Amino acid sequence: MTKTNTVIGFLGTKLDSIRRDRWNKWRPTIGLCSREDFVIDHYELLYEEKFSDLAERVMSDMRQVSPETKVVGRVLGISKPWDFEDVFSHLYDYFKSLKVDPSKTNYYSHITTGTHVAQICLFLLTESQHLPGKLIQTGPPRGRNEETVTGSFSIIDLDLSRYDQLASRFHEEKATAQDILKSGIDTLNENFNTLIEQIETVAVRSDAPILITGPTGAGKSQLAEKIFQLRQNRCNVEGNFVEINCATLRGDMAMSTLFGHKKGSFTGAASDRPGLLREANGGILFLDEIGELGGDEQAMLLRAIEEGRWLPVGSDTPVKSKFQLIAGTNKDLRERISDGTFRDDLLARINTWTFKLPGLAERLEDIAPNIDYELSKHTEASGQSIRFNKEAYEEFLKFSTDPQSTWAGNFRDLNSAITRMATLAPRGRIRTEEVTAEIERLTESWKRPIEKDSALDLTEHLTEQGIEKIDPFDRPQLAYVIQICKSSKSMSDAGRNLFSVSREQRKSKNDGDRLRKYLAKFDLQFEDL
Ligand SMILES: Nc1ncnc2c1ncn2[C@@H]1O[C@H](COP(=O)(O)OP(=O)(O)OP(=O)(O)O)[C@@H](O)[C@H]1O
Ligand SMILES: [Mg+2]
Repeated sequence: MTKTNTVIGFLGTKLDSIRRDRWNKWRPTIGLCSREDFVIDHYELLYEEKFSDLAERVMSDMRQVSPETKVVGRVLGISKPWDFEDVFSHLYDYFKSLKVDPSKTNYYSHITTGTHVAQICLFLLTESQHLPGKLIQTGPPRGRNEETVTGSFSIIDLDLSRYDQLASRFHEEKATAQDILKSGIDTLNENFNTLIEQIETVAVRSDAPILITGPTGAGKSQLAEKIFQLRQNRCNVEGNFVEINCATLRGDMAMSTLFGHKKGSFTGAASDRPGLLREANGGILFLDEIGELGGDEQAMLLRAIEEGRWLPVGSDTPVKSKFQLIAGTNKDLRERISDGTFRDDLLARINTWTFKLPGLAERLEDIAPNIDYELSKHTEASGQSIRFNKEAYEEFLKFSTDPQSTWAGNFRDLNSAITRMATLAPRGRIRTEEVTAEIERLTESWKRPIEKDSALDLTEHLTEQGIEKIDPFDRPQLAYVIQICKSSKSMSDAGRNLFSVSREQRKSKNDGDRLRKYLAKFDLQFEDL
């Protein structure tokens, strides 16, 4: 049994209404009914009540060109043809009232007529299968072969592979976005992948400030650049990626580097300087190690972000720039706030989006793909193919994924390790010899350097060998004693403070002497502190 064809379409209040010489003009609905290559058994013509006269006239012409078509007029209660909600809800009710039977009938939505809103709603309802059919698009004649009255015509099947291809292209684009952020490394760590998904969403949709935290070498700087690349890919950014490490901004030049200066505003200011904030106009400003930014610069930056304008050094004309701020830090900014070196209002401004990058030791399942990635990077750079011997690879992977391996420098450590092994590998093969040596090197480098702990900082007054001779148990005490000595006017002052409890039980209060003897054990003298 062949199926019948039913078309649903709006009355074209302009194109269908042509009166003069109408049999020599293209009218969408009449054109569709005149086709010999497409037989319509049933046509539902939708219109608003106020166009009833026109609808009757058009329907009569439809019947004339296509006597085999049953033409039915449907008045939809649309009162605002440009209002989405109004049109959609009426069309929705209408579709629901239809008794469709796709086994007997092919349905088609004619989307050439009606307001844009009507066309879009018709498309949406067809695409979502509220009407299980295809779309028909008609147009004026395109070539010599097409008759004037009939015009051109195409059927769009939303289920066709063409649509699948579109869908898979969207999918691919999405994958590409995450690929960009991950540098094409196939990572498995669930937390990291969720983080990347969130970053992708934010990077594409928002230009609010982003704060990237995480340990050194976890990839903060690289991620900032990738966000820019992603936005560029999406044509979401016009300006440049401007990057500065705040730890390098010192002294007078800090202000002018960031905010610019006016020629002659200080000695050495030979010409106007726009400053990095203005260079980032329309783009992204990446302030790495933002925790190191000085107090004045923080205050000025806060104003610049809040007001979008500021005064360059030596100028009384404000300048403007609109950029997205990405800040990076491996410090705990809250700690900096509590010790008074970072402004809490600035933190509140820059952490709309905070992303904490995990260190490599928290992503053990990603070490293997990263080893492959580093190897292929090395191969690309050196032009020589480098591979691990089987046992060598297993040994290195076992060590790398051992919870004892801290990967203190994170990707930087992994990158250097692979570079070193690849460079030393004879004939492009990394053997167990190279791996064993590398494991020793890494283990040595991860030993906690004594001076790292600032509370126990003894390096200012003792040599490393000297410190190593002191029991870890005694180090904090010595560090505390040194700290008190430094802040005291005299040795007896320091002694009074340090022995404040026990001195009360002594007959002779020789605090200074006690302190001198204590310091002498470490070859230290009060005067040197
Ligand atoms: N996701 C990643 N996968 C693999 N390698 C990465 C990744 N992110 C960064 N790297 C590499 O690791 C090294 C350090 O990255 P990056 O400079 O971005 O770290 P960082 O977090 O900014 O460090 P710091 O706090 O010291 O500034 C770079 O060589 C970079 O190419
Ligand atoms: Mg960095």
